[in-house]
Amino acid sequence: MNITLEKLKKTYTSSEGTVQAVKEVSLKIPSNKIFGIIGKSGAGKSSLVRLISLLETPDEGKVFYDDKRVDNLSKKELILQRRRIGMIFQNFALFSSRTAGENIAYPMEICGTDKKKIASRVDELLEVVGLSDKKNSPISTLSGGQKQRIAIARALANNPDVLFCDEATSALDPQTTKSILSLIRDIQQKMNLTVVMITHQMEVVRDACDYVAVLDDGLVVEEGKVSQIFTHPKSSVTKDFLSHISVSSEEASSSEEFVRWSNDGGIYILRFENTLTGEPILSRLAQELSMDFNIRAGGIQHLNEFDVGTMLVDFYGSDEKINEAISYLEKNGVIVEKEEK
Ligand SMILES: Nc1ncnc2c1ncn2[C@@H]1O[C@H](COP(=O)(O)OP(=O)(O)OP(=O)(O)O)[C@@H](O)[C@H]1O
Ligand SMILES: [Mg+2]
Repeated sequence: MNITLEKLKKTYTSSEGTVQAVKEVSLKIPSNKIFGIIGKSGAGKSSLVRLISLLETPDEGKVFYDDKRVDNLSKKELILQRRRIGMIFQNFALFSSRTAGENIAYPMEICGTDKKKIASRVDELLEVVGLSDKKNSPISTLSGGQKQRIAIARALANNPDVLFCDEATSALDPQTTKSILSLIRDIQQKMNLTVVMITHQMEVVRDACDYVAVLDDGLVVEEGKVSQIFTHPKSSVTKDFLSHISVSSEEASSSEEFVRWSNDGGIYILRFENTLTGEPILSRLAQELSMDFNIRAGGIQHLNEFDVGTMLVDFYGSDEKINEAISYLEKNGVIVEKEEK
């Protein structure tokens, strides 16, 4: 199922005043992909996801699931439509009075599903999330990662068309985050799900998403394929996210970690795509143009499509010489940006 948002607006009024949480957002979320929405705290991510998932109605604008308008459904239609939506949250939102299995059963009980069918579906879902042995465990005895797996199983119980994940891995350590993200990717592919993933971590976008929209102050400031955004970021918000990205604990043991050995920051950011990540372009630059430079930080990010190398460097020399170096690099397929201070 694809989702189209047309000029969505949402304002909240509280005792502290009025906040335009969603200023005007139009987006196309493609079918059967993982679509990330990234933004800093307060950017409006949760507000936006409440509108897309039909928990709240926009003040203005429209939401379409495939070609069907869904922001103005009657109460009865809304209840039926919402059964086709799965959601998971940072705090898991599980029922502590129920066992793991009973949590997964809950959405099916609400729909009046046959008891036998519920029982077999619960077993099936426990297997999907790798927790068959935890069926009768009280929620309080599960780890954070296990709780999120149960929450995912519950979200999938009624075979939804779309799964919304609002900061689903923010409460988890890096290794558990990786395993939950890879579970979501697996499920997305097996079940042909559309997944909307809300996050404030570029690592989550890198490891899980196909597309991403960058939200800032209630507006989409940039959107596109993840590979495109990583190699050609345009907005300062996106660049900021990319310069603070860290490696996962798994990769930290490899030689390809992002190392930052100076906190002064680099003057130029070089981005290499794909095949270039193995090329000694900088040493060639040094030889051919007899250029001096200092590498301040560097590393490789593994995207689903290809690898992107990033380096923060200072160049020394006249403006002319530096410009010459930049065009040399660009000719060789390196994307060069001057870091904004
Ligand atoms: N129900 C509400 N009533 C009043 N203000 C709200 C409400 N929901 C959100 N806001 C305000 O709207 C703005 C955006 O909030 P939102 O929760 O959507 O941000 P967010 O991007 O999800 O942030 P975070 O990363 O911290 O979860 C904030 O200024 C927030 O205070
Ligand atoms: Mg939020």
